[in-house]
Amino acid sequence: MIVSNNISSRGMNTFGIDVNLSTVISLEHRDDLVALAPYLQEKEVSILGGGSNVLLTQDIQQPVLLVNTQGKQVVLERETYDLIKVEAGEKWHNLVLWAVEQGYGGIENLALIPGKCGAGPMQNIGAYGVEIKDVLHSVSAYNLREGKIYNFHNTECGFGYRTSHFKTKWKDQFIILDIILRLTKPGHHLTNLSYGAIAQTLNEKGVKDAGIKEVAETVIAIRQAKLPNPSEVGNAGSFFKNPVVDKSILKTIQKAQPEAPHYPVDDSRVKLPAGWLIDQCGWKGKQVGQTGTYKNQALVLVNHGSASGSEVYALSEEIQQSVYRRYNILLEREVNVW
Ligand code: EPU
Repeated sequence: MIVSNNISSRGMNTFGIDVNLSTVISLEHRDDLVALAPYLQEKEVSILGGGSNVLLTQDIQQPVLLVNTQGKQVVLERETYDLIKVEAGEKWHNLVLWAVEQGYGGIENLALIPGKCGAGPMQNIGAYGVEIKDVLHSVSAYNLREGKIYNFHNTECGFGYRTSHFKTKWKDQFIILDIILRLTKPGHHLTNLSYGAIAQTLNEKGVKDAGIKEVAETVIAIRQAKLPNPSEVGNAGSFFKNPVVDKSILKTIQKAQPEAPHYPVDDSRVKLPAGWLIDQCGWKGKQVGQTGTYKNQALVLVNHGSASGSEVYALSEEIQQSVYRRYNILLEREVNVW
């Protein structure tokens, strides 16, 4: 465990926002929790993984716990799949690269998602037709108040689109310690090409029967073209969730804009891409002071260098209002605001 005082948050969040963190406790090994238990029972702490889904709008007085635990191991071998246990502090994209290298299938569509493994289940990370819930076997998590470790099976975690119990009814109660993924062995994996852009890119490249490696490479290429690299332009990926609305709202939009993109949810509802709605309101690539939206994807708010969290937050409010005025849809933030 490493404890530091009064340090800048800049390198700890992908938005690159600079606020003062009064106390930072870095959890290097899960055994550190034994010594930390009385402290964690008494104090409110904020838990930070890779800082890739958070907007810091003020100095943080309460202790910040950084999860830096490392390691992965095969915990069960079966003929067609293995269960792999991964410590929460491992970088997600490194895990994807490792899995692809080993020939393990299941997470190749989730390549290049920033952040650490422990944050994956928190908001059920997803991209290109796959969500972590599709491959997650279970999660082990430390209850801060009780000082006890719980194992939650996939079905107990309350997963939904960009949500889980960890983000809602269990908010701030647990530190995710590790995740166990069920990854398929070579020769037993069916790649998921359901997302239009993947099939299209593979087609253009003339790739037939794409394997895990080709899918990962394609996802990396699509993401690099559409999304800013946080080490160059501060951002936290999609800032808002894609809204799920009643079909009647889509019908109203289609009267003026028949081309409006949408995805089916159920008989009465559809999901609309927030990026498209924001783009239609004229925000794509706009710069406002040190903040703005990304030139290739309006759903991504960026820090052009020295933006404050409140500046980014204020822009997100303006965007919300303009989408609401035009489409009568209130966008919900996906990013956690501290
Ligand atoms: N679009 C526009 N203008 C824009 C942005 C998008 O017209 O500025 C249109 C696109 O042309 C397309 C549609 O909106 O028709 C959807 O865009 P895209 O394929 O880029 O996906 P998205 O719905 O905006 C979601 C996730 C991403 C994920 C991609 C791929 C959410 C909130 N976002 O974005 O996740 O990578 O799909 O699966 O669900 C993240 O969570 O941080 C993230 C990047």
